[in-house]
Amino acid sequence: MNPSPNLFLIGPMGAGKSSIGRRLAEHFRMPCIDLDAAVEERTGTSVATIFEIEGEAGFRRRESELLAEFAARDGIVLATGGGAVLAPANRALLRERGFVLWLETSVEQQLQRLARDRQRPLLDAPDRRERLDQLARVRDPLYRELADFSVAGEGESCQHAAARIAGLLEQHWQRTPAARATA
Ligand code: S3P
Repeated sequence: MNPSPNLFLIGPMGAGKSSIGRRLAEHFRMPCIDLDAAVEERTGTSVATIFEIEGEAGFRRRESELLAEFAARDGIVLATGGGAVLAPANRALLRERGFVLWLETSVEQQLQRLARDRQRPLLDAPDRRERLDQLARVRDPLYRELADFSVAGEGESCQHAAARIAGLLEQHWQRTPAARATA
């Protein structure tokens, strides 16, 4: 039985993992960690600069190291980066060490939310829609396989989404208390 000591948010760029994660953490009175922000804090530089200097492989290594460190804790909300599910070792940790919430988002919504974003190296592509489609083809099966629970965005604000999702999680956990994250 999964003891679910933590709440992990997975999903693609622009799904609102960081904002919704922060609000869920407030709601459930748990500390919130944003994995990208933690990588930036540890390295003292931006994700974009890490990609530039060390390539995606360097970023993934750092991401995995920190994920392992945080997954060893109990009682946290962790907003992961969109590609954190790629490494099998990360997936094993997410599965074993927490309740995994997938924030499902359409490419259309991602394009809208990320329209002005210049911080995400993987969006630096001539055709952003095609890039996001490609990423989704590879990653959606991984998100699906990992998710204990998934919620689709409804084009609402992150504040509204977080309140709605908190309610859905509470209902879900009432039905299946064993899968409840520590809150
Ligand atoms: C990435 C998503 C980003 C960040 C990095 C790579 C990805 O995080 O980790 O730019 O591979 O999808 P967000 O999902 O928080 O944007």
